[in-house]
Amino acid sequence: MLNDFLTTPPTAEPAQLVEQIKRMAHSAQAHFLSEEKFLTDQHYPRLQAHRNAHARLLRRMGLVIRELSSSVTPIRLLALKVQLKDALARHIRHEDLDYARIYCDHRPNEVCGVTDDMLDWSQELSLGAPTLDREHGELARTLNAFYCAAIHEAYGIDPSPFVRKIQTRFQAHFEHEKELLERYAPELAAVHLADHDSFSQSLDGALSALSDPEDRIEDLGALFDALQLWFIRHTLTADLELAERLPNELRD
Ligand SMILES: [Fe+2]
Ligand SMILES: [Fe+2]
Ligand SMILES: [Fe+2]
Repeated sequence: MLNDFLTTPPTAEPAQLVEQIKRMAHSAQAHFLSEEKFLTDQHYPRLQAHRNAHARLLRRMGLVIRELSSSVTPIRLLALKVQLKDALARHIRHEDLDYARIYCDHRPNEVCGVTDDMLDWSQELSLGAPTLDREHGELARTLNAFYCAAIHEAYGIDPSPFVRKIQTRFQAHFEHEKELLERYAPELAAVHLADHDSFSQSLDGALSALSDPEDRIEDLGALFDALQLWFIRHTLTADLELAERLPNELRD
């Protein structure tokens, strides 16, 4: 919609330009409203400031419409286009990015809206051991948060803190499973813990690659796929075996 307006030649009829920008303002308004509804639902702390920014953008579009309704020079038209594009880009880079950064972490699936590629925590991954299942659900969310950050990388989100979060949260979970293994299934411990180590090592590798501009990971999506695949395989093999050895009071 913005592109229609930006690419219109300076010789276009003013009425045509006004029509375009009206359409653009109309769709921007609908988009802003749905974004504000989302932010309200998420109890976003800077909602009012974000709302004000939307109102300023709409007012700016209104002023452009008014100015275009009388005749403008080609230079003035160019200036109006550049200013409007700049204002929208700044909003996306600052205000929109601010909530994306917060909600990649809290509600990755809702923010990204690309749930198809994400890890779907479902009954199929449930082991019938409530504490482990709850922890696994949390870990799935942490992996999805990284994916959400990865696909927003182009907008300036740094995925490294999300990888570090995966590292810390998996580490805590591995410690918990280590205790359970030693207590209830010591003969399974060596193989199981070695598999945890291999996951931790691949994360270490990913983190050092992310911090080194020379060796930058090109395909964060592939990294996510690899982590996700490990998680599913490990849950349905080693963790399932462990869960089956747990005493009844730790099972559903
Ligand atoms: Fe916005
Ligand atoms: Fe495990
Ligand atoms: Fe596990």
